[in-house]
Amino acid sequence: MTTVSKDTVEIAVRPTGAALGADVVGLDFSQPLSPETLQSIKQAWSEHLVLRFRGMGKLSPEMLIEFSRHFGDLDMRPIATGNRSQFLEVDRPELTIISNVIIDGKPIGGLGSYEADWHADMTYVERPPKGSCLHAVELPPSGGDTYFSNMYMAYETLDDAVKKEIASLTCVHDASRNSAGELRRGFEEIDDPRRTIGPSHPLIRVHPESGRKCLLLGRRRNAYINGYTLEDSERLLNMLWSHATQAKFTWAQEWQLGDMIMWDNRCTMHRRDSFDPSARRIMFRTQISGEPVVAA
Ligand code: OGA
Ligand code: MN
Repeated sequence: MTTVSKDTVEIAVRPTGAALGADVVGLDFSQPLSPETLQSIKQAWSEHLVLRFRGMGKLSPEMLIEFSRHFGDLDMRPIATGNRSQFLEVDRPELTIISNVIIDGKPIGGLGSYEADWHADMTYVERPPKGSCLHAVELPPSGGDTYFSNMYMAYETLDDAVKKEIASLTCVHDASRNSAGELRRGFEEIDDPRRTIGPSHPLIRVHPESGRKCLLLGRRRNAYINGYTLEDSERLLNMLWSHATQAKFTWAQEWQLGDMIMWDNRCTMHRRDSFDPSARRIMFRTQISGEPVVAA
């Protein structure tokens, strides 16, 4: 545990003991962040990849946005917004809602109540996001836990022969579906990965801040290794995915009300358990803009 005392704020960083993740204790979101405290959080984020701030009460959209801005420019939410005005007093374009709640027949947010498979966010664009902040505003009595996986470890533990094989390979990331697996408007249904439309990224990425190598998988569906036969591509991807999602590389966030989680989307993946559709789950989310992917 590291304790940093700066000004009147004292934060402590407590690693989960799993492959990634740490609790940051003692931060007061209602106070401005001092440069020293911000530096400590950045350092902890770089070391632990996912940070949890527990017991934050109910953060307002403004508070979450203001905090997130310290880590980069924020992406605006997609245009399809649902029934937000009836739920939020002040709507902000930087704020996304993740929720299964439906008001007057319209969802207030995305992702519903179903399971979300392992993925990194939006790797189907040239510059996938740097990370996200997710804050629990309302939770179901059970289910809806979020799991994270450490993509540095996934890379580092590959056999040398595999590291060598994938060193110069790129993979196509399917742009036709959103994170919930729903077909986007304007895209046709494709189930032959050789026809997948989307950007290609290297399988091994160099993290722009740590300089360390990590695996970049994105999402499994319709992924395709450029230059490989379909059979070879499927075999390699299946192997990499089952390797990268082993429990020993993961940590489970079991949500409590008031939790705020921030993850580095460049060196982690995540998935979410389903939950009872008749229960309510409401999360506030911000997304920090990314940079071009750099190959190893
Ligand atoms: C996301 C996501 C998981 C969750 O917001 O990108 O995958 O727990 N959410 O809601
Ligand atoms: Mn996601």
